[in-house]
Amino acid sequence: MDRRASAFARLFEAVHEGVYIGTIGPETTSTIAANPHLKLIFGYASEATEAGVRPFDRDRFVDPQARVALLERLTTDGSVNDYLLRLRRADGNPVWVELTARADPFGDEGCCRVEALVRDVSERKKLDDETRDIYHQLLQAEKMAALGQTVSGVARELNNPLATILSWAERLSQRATLEEPVRRGLETILSESERAARIVRNLLTFARKRQTTRAMVDVNQVVRETIALRAYEQHVTNIAVIDALAAGLPQVFADGHQVQQVLLNLMINAEQAMLAANGRGTLVVRTWHDADQESVILEVNDDGPGIPDELQPKIFDPFFTTKEVGKGTGLGLTVAYAIVQEHGGRIRLESRPNAGASFYVELPISGSKLPPAPVTRGSLDAPVDTLAGASILVVEDEAKLASAVVDALRDAGYLVQHAADGEEALSKVKTDAFDLVICDLKMPRMDGKAFYKTLSAAAPGLAKRVIFDTGDVAGTDADAFLEESGCRWLAKPFRLGDLLRAVREGLS
Ligand SMILES: Nc1ncnc2c1ncn2[C@@H]1O[C@H](COP(=O)(O)OP(=O)(O)OP(=O)(O)O)[C@@H](O)[C@H]1O
Ligand SMILES: [Mg+2]
Repeated sequence: MDRRASAFARLFEAVHEGVYIGTIGPETTSTIAANPHLKLIFGYASEATEAGVRPFDRDRFVDPQARVALLERLTTDGSVNDYLLRLRRADGNPVWVELTARADPFGDEGCCRVEALVRDVSERKKLDDETRDIYHQLLQAEKMAALGQTVSGVARELNNPLATILSWAERLSQRATLEEPVRRGLETILSESERAARIVRNLLTFARKRQTTRAMVDVNQVVRETIALRAYEQHVTNIAVIDALAAGLPQVFADGHQVQQVLLNLMINAEQAMLAANGRGTLVVRTWHDADQESVILEVNDDGPGIPDELQPKIFDPFFTTKEVGKGTGLGLTVAYAIVQEHGGRIRLESRPNAGASFYVELPISGSKLPPAPVTRGSLDAPVDTLAGASILVVEDEAKLASAVVDALRDAGYLVQHAADGEEALSKVKTDAFDLVICDLKMPRMDGKAFYKTLSAAAPGLAKRVIFDTGDVAGTDADAFLEESGCRWLAKPFRLGDLLRAVREGLS
């Protein structure tokens, strides 16, 4: 061999770039030469024969369509430059490569002889993807922030009328003698306004305005409970559930109910998508510990239709839904996103058409923020034993809500007066004796906060027995105020049962 030839041979052996010489046709390929680095990229043993290294065979392409496109480029243009492909290594794992090649027609129609350089760009691709992910997360966060303000404003406005409707419906339905159609009508009003209240609560959750209670939570336990919750429905609808829960998963500092809410929303979405597309499906829920990130990952995977690329940036938007009117409100993922964000975590999606969807929820083990004060929320059917005769002042600017609350308290045997704002309340407190005050936070003239301040100075004993009710707390300065004052409070719209229970606790 002359010196030149042996120099080429050494280069071929040593160069840190995959070199491939061979033919590629629509059905088959044959390899003339494959250098050691090419073997390395595709995971072949170094002693593998060169003819056995066939990275461009049909079954090496993750996307068969990409092979058709590549061949077309090679046969029509005669070359490709830095052409990005996703191929499979010998063990089947995918690898991203860039191909620079020259091609001449060879043999049969559509077949060509190729000299190619192949570069492994998986690492770079991963970085690119991560950058894009972060960008999308940022974009989403910004959209959410802007919308959050509008939405929480609207939700707050809806709270008062809803609280009024709920209170009335509840009171009326408790009457013993009701004609059947009236009773049915009232029950419908009650259940539908509760539904509306749930939507409002969802909106406020998304707008980061909900109180949460955090503790160390075993995510696996949450998963098991949630799967149990869906078990019957899944059984009758032909959904199989597989769980793969990591043993020894560290606990995360989180609100267990909210984590469950996230998982439920993801599971229900997956079920709905699989059933709509195939009438059946398999749902896989996985958990594992990411020690590097100090987080726990929760994956919900389905084998449904997947989510098309063009819809992916929209699915977390409020009210984005592809479901028929009445079927979906488009808030499930919005709420999930908001909850995960509030936990300092991330939620992301991986989906290819017709290959299902995977949602990944990443929760930091430590949690990001300290928990706000817990809310006192009772069960709806708590027994009401009145400390009858106690006198209560209701401070509420919404006349209709005020009268619903006042009447309900009177029904329960209390002596009740009403003031339309803080100033009127103060003057009533000066002339009459009260055992307890129920006070709206947001009112014209003198609001709840100012009223409380003056009351604390004038009648500190009574100030300890103030119950606030409010349409919106967390994230506003009301949050800090309630925490500081240590007062009981109720989120609007509340159930009468909850109010009466809080009153009872406040009086005892
Ligand atoms: N696993 C999935 N497979 C396919 N599409 C999905 C999946 N999860 C979500 N989607 C798409 O994202 C959209 C938004 O989901 P989201 O949960 O926010 O709202 P929704 O399910 O339509 O309504 P809601 O949850 O309020 O009842 C869905 O309408 C659906 O098109
Ligand atoms: Mg949903």
